[in-house]
Amino acid sequence: MAALRIAVANQKGGTGKTTLTVNLAAGLSRRGETALLDADPQGSARHWARVGGAESDLPPVRGVTASNVKTSIGVAAGECRFVLVDCPPHLQSDALRKVMQSVDLLLIPIQPSPLDLWASIELSAALQEAVGRNPGLRAYMVLNQLDSRNSLSRSMHEALADFEVPVLTNGLARRAAFRSAALEGCSVYGLGRRGASAVQDVEAIIEEVLKS
Ligand SMILES: Nc1ncnc2c1ncn2[C@@H]1O[C@H](COP(=O)(O)OP(=O)(O)O)[C@@H](O)[C@H]1O
Ligand SMILES: [Mg+2]
Repeated sequence: MAALRIAVANQKGGTGKTTLTVNLAAGLSRRGETALLDADPQGSARHWARVGGAESDLPPVRGVTASNVKTSIGVAAGECRFVLVDCPPHLQSDALRKVMQSVDLLLIPIQPSPLDLWASIELSAALQEAVGRNPGLRAYMVLNQLDSRNSLSRSMHEALADFEVPVLTNGLARRAAFRSAALEGCSVYGLGRRGASAVQDVEAIIEEVLKS
């Protein structure tokens, strides 16, 4: 079976790319061999895994650059069932362009605010260019830092409906567990009972993505 290659990108910093990538990787690694590639020169995902050390439940994180990202995704896809790529927070990035040409699925975490939605419009232009070169590429926005899992204002629903990139039904709530996991160098799965609600958020996204 061909690997499912997933990139997490948004040209804005702080929207939850690394949080989503790392926790999806942890959830997917419970289903099959998973590779976690860090294409962000800031190296947050690498740092996260390093904090947890040998006890971390995260798959090993490999740093990649524009010059080797295509090869790295290809090699990882040959070895694993799932490949996750955490992307840099800007569009003028060769690495991001190459990642978008090399994956099956692009997840774009956004905060449920119109300002963040408008900021993503630029990314959708870059996405259209990427789809021109990689016609199989599918993209979804993922709502992050929801006040509760189903609390999205009506006006935000309307704004999202007008947007050309579809939004996953499931998102991540704002939960202390997502920050604790980063502090402890593990995923929310590794927090045990403290992470249970956060795990439910991540599992719902994984199930939706695997069915999409
Ligand atoms: N669902 C969430 N609940 C609570 N805190 C979150 C959540 N998602 C992200 N954060 C926090 O928000 C900050 C930015 O998230 P991060 O994943 O680093 O974003 P990015 O990779 O897009 O820059 C971090 O401090 C992270 O712990
Ligand atoms: Mg990041």
